[in-house]
Amino acid sequence: MVIAIDGPAGAGKSTVAGKLAQKLNILHLDTGAMYRAAALYALEQGADPADGRAAEALVPQIGVTVEPSAGGQRTFLNGRDVSAAIREHRVSRAASDFSAHPCVRRKMAALQREIASALDMVLDGRDIGTYVLPNADFKFFLTADLEERARRRASELAQKGCPARYEEVLEDLAQRDKNDSSRALAPLKKAEDAIAVDTTRNSADEIVGQLAAVIKDEVGRTK
Ligand code: DC
Repeated sequence: MVIAIDGPAGAGKSTVAGKLAQKLNILHLDTGAMYRAAALYALEQGADPADGRAAEALVPQIGVTVEPSAGGQRTFLNGRDVSAAIREHRVSRAASDFSAHPCVRRKMAALQREIASALDMVLDGRDIGTYVLPNADFKFFLTADLEERARRRASELAQKGCPARYEEVLEDLAQRDKNDSSRALAPLKKAEDAIAVDTTRNSADEIVGQLAAVIKDEVGRTK
């Protein structure tokens, strides 16, 4: 079973995908973490993440691997655990820019398809239902008001010990939404056959309950 959860930053995809995977006892692949690791490499090499030519040169040097762990996915860049480093603010911005290059997307999408071909899985990202796995068994598109997404992201950052101003987070999310939705290859977009879920006024557990009910109904119907 493959479940695709797409949507903009801060809509709760990662939390919901993790909890849903736990409930169904299958794995969760956070594809954003893979783009973040790739972008971290560009930053470490002193490259401008928005520079397409630099991306072409760097992509063959980038090895991203993931491992499930009790506390969530661990992400490795050329064998080094970068799970904490990729959450830095500068990496969020860089990931949005770096992921726009077709050479980066093709490499990460191929890797994601390979990982998902082996096991039942919940994948969260921007283009899972439209581009990476258009034949996914279930497709959900999570949204939430920009202000609510910014509040969530700001409190998440504060909890992680790297507080940021609400206004700055809001501006950053708006910029990333624009970037992620306007790139040429596989932009952030709801798949026509995805179920849209507005998470603005619901807790992650409530959303997980909704998605699990849809899955259970469908599985029951087709049995
Ligand atoms: O989900 P996230 O915030 O960790 O993702 C970081 C960036 O990576 C996001 O701004 C766009 C990019 N991304 C993407 O282009 N496609 C995906 N499937 C996942 C993330």
